[in-house]
Order: sequence, then C-alpha cells, then structure tokens
Amino acid sequence: MTDPTRPTRLADPADPLPVIEAHLATWSRGFDLPPRLVHAVEYALLGGGKRTRPLLAWHASLAAGGTGHDALDAALAVELVHCFSLVHDDLPAMDDDDLRRGKPTLHRHAGEASAILAGDAMLALAFGVIADRSPTPALAAALAHELAQGSAGMIAGQVYDTLGGLPQGLDPESQARHIHERKTGALIVAACRMGARCGLHASGRADDRGVLPLITEYARAVGLMFQIADDLIDVEQPHDHAGKRTNKDKDAGKVTYPGVMGVAAARERLDRLHARALDRAAALGSNGQGLALLADSLARRTR
Ligand code: IPE
Ligand code: IPE
Ligand code: MG
Ligand code: MG
Ligand code: MG
Repeated sequence: MTDPTRPTRLADPADPLPVIEAHLATWSRGFDLPPRLVHAVEYALLGGGKRTRPLLAWHASLAAGGTGHDALDAALAVELVHCFSLVHDDLPAMDDDDLRRGKPTLHRHAGEASAILAGDAMLALAFGVIADRSPTPALAAALAHELAQGSAGMIAGQVYDTLGGLPQGLDPESQARHIHERKTGALIVAACRMGARCGLHASGRADDRGVLPLITEYARAVGLMFQIADDLIDVEQPHDHAGKRTNKDKDAGKVTYPGVMGVAAARERLDRLHARALDRAAALGSNGQGLALLADSLARRTR
C-alpha cells in the first residue's frame, strides 16, 4: 500500500540539466579575456559532460530548503574547477590522453600551452564567480572556503595518483581510498556542501536540522562511489561508449579498486557506498529525494 505522505521516486534527477547548461554558458561574464582563451575554455567547459557536480549542487540546495536556482553560480564554479582538472589530467605529463567526452582533448585540439593556460584560467575564474556573484560577503567567504578545500584536495589526490608518495603503512585498499577520496571525492564534497550552503542561505533558516553534516556524509559516500565507477568503466567499457580511452589504468600502474581487489569486490564496495548514500539522503526527508535519485543514477553509470 502506498503511503501518500511519501513522495514517489519518479522524478528525473537530471531535470535541471537545461537550466544548468544555460547557466554554464554565462561563465565569462565580467572578465576581459583573449579570444583564444575564451575558445579554449569553452571547448573544455561547454563540450559535453554529465554535469554531475552541478546536479549535486542543485539537489543539495533543494535538500537544504533552497530552490536549486540559488546554487547555479556555485555549480558553475565547481564545474569550472572540475573541467580544469580534466584538461590537466589529460596532458602528456599526466595521463597523456587524446580523447575526452568523445572529442580530442584540449591539448590535442589547441596545443599544450593553450590547455595549460585554460586550466589555470578556469581555476581562477571559478573563484571570481564566487566573489562576484554571491549574494552576501559571508556566503562568498564560506563558498570560497569550500571550493578551496575541494580544489586543494583534488590536486593532492592527483599528486598521489601521478607521483606516488602515499603515507606509509596503508594496505592496498586504503591506498586506493586515500587517492580516490581526494582526487575525485573532495570536489564532489565541495559541490554538495556549496549547494547546501546556498540552499540554507536562500531559505533564510539556520541549519538547526543538521542538514550540512548529513549532506557531507552523503557526498563522501557518493564521491568514493563515483571514482570506483570510473575505475570499473576503465576495465569494462569500450572507449567509444565511455568517450575516453579505457583499458589503460593497469598499464599506467594506477592504483584502482578493481586493480587492488578485482572487479566483483569493487562492485560490492560501490553497492555498499550507494546504500550508505541512500541512507543519508533518506535521513534528509522528502527534500533529499533528488539526492537519492542522483545516487541511483551515478551507481548505475557506464560512462
Ligand atoms: C571524470 O569525471 C574524471 C573523474 C573525476 C572520475 P566525470 O565522469 O564527471 O566526467 P564528465 O564531466 O562527465 O565528462
Ligand atoms: C581523474 O581520474 C581525476 C581527476 C581528473 C581529478 P582519472 O584519470 O581516472 O579520470 P579519467 O578516467 O581520465 O576521466
Ligand atoms: Mg588521472
Ligand atoms: Mg585520466
Ligand atoms: Mg579513470
């Protein structure tokens, strides 16, 4: 028997995508940039992508009592940092990849110098968006703090992933977790916390229900789950489906979940993290429904 007080889970968590895409296109407002740089950033920012972090920010805002719309600038800022991370991740000195989102990587399209400079610019522009567009100085400072934590965490993870130097004494699974929580998890946590802060601000209420800690726990689970899914895509999906080179992590000596424990155990870890994310979303009540649906779709993703 259906409980009429419980919303049915029919809504599509990707519904706000057209609004998000339109908002990402406003990225250059207020900046005076050379046309070559505009072209390079647009190639990296507007050329596809699942928009996972903007969708997380949107649904975290809703979970915190906001409208989703109030998180659009935070979503833009996080997606700028994410796209910067992809452009630099693909460089010859990093993962040396030629394909991203089904197209040549930016350094293949426009040259290495353009790719390096576009990445630099996207990181700076992200903080400019927060500074220029936040409704109050206090919210700007809080969002900048979250974005700095997420960006620095992502870069720390990329250092461990690319150069090693992990803390001594970690078993192989803990090594993978240490890398993944940083290179991918940190920015996902930032996306969720920034969205939640925007929603709380817009609702005009103090966080007396403890929404921010719950959303943070949700984000930690989804962040690790998201990178385990990425590791599984590398071993299970063809490049033309994934839109990027696959079957490469093992040869590149990457520490991955399927690499340290096998595909079946990695999928079991992913399922456990999915369940944890759903549990935290459920604790948010009916406002957490969008986050729950998003976790479902991210757990099933194959690209
Ligand atoms: C790929 O990120 C790199 C990781 C952090 C796993 P996404 O899978 O979010 O890539 P896009 O933005 O959808 O292309
Ligand atoms: C990327 O991890 C993490 C960041 C970009 C920060 P991967 O190197 O596994 O991502 P893909 O597989 O190239 O998208
Ligand atoms: Mg990489
Ligand atoms: Mg890579
Ligand atoms: Mg990968």
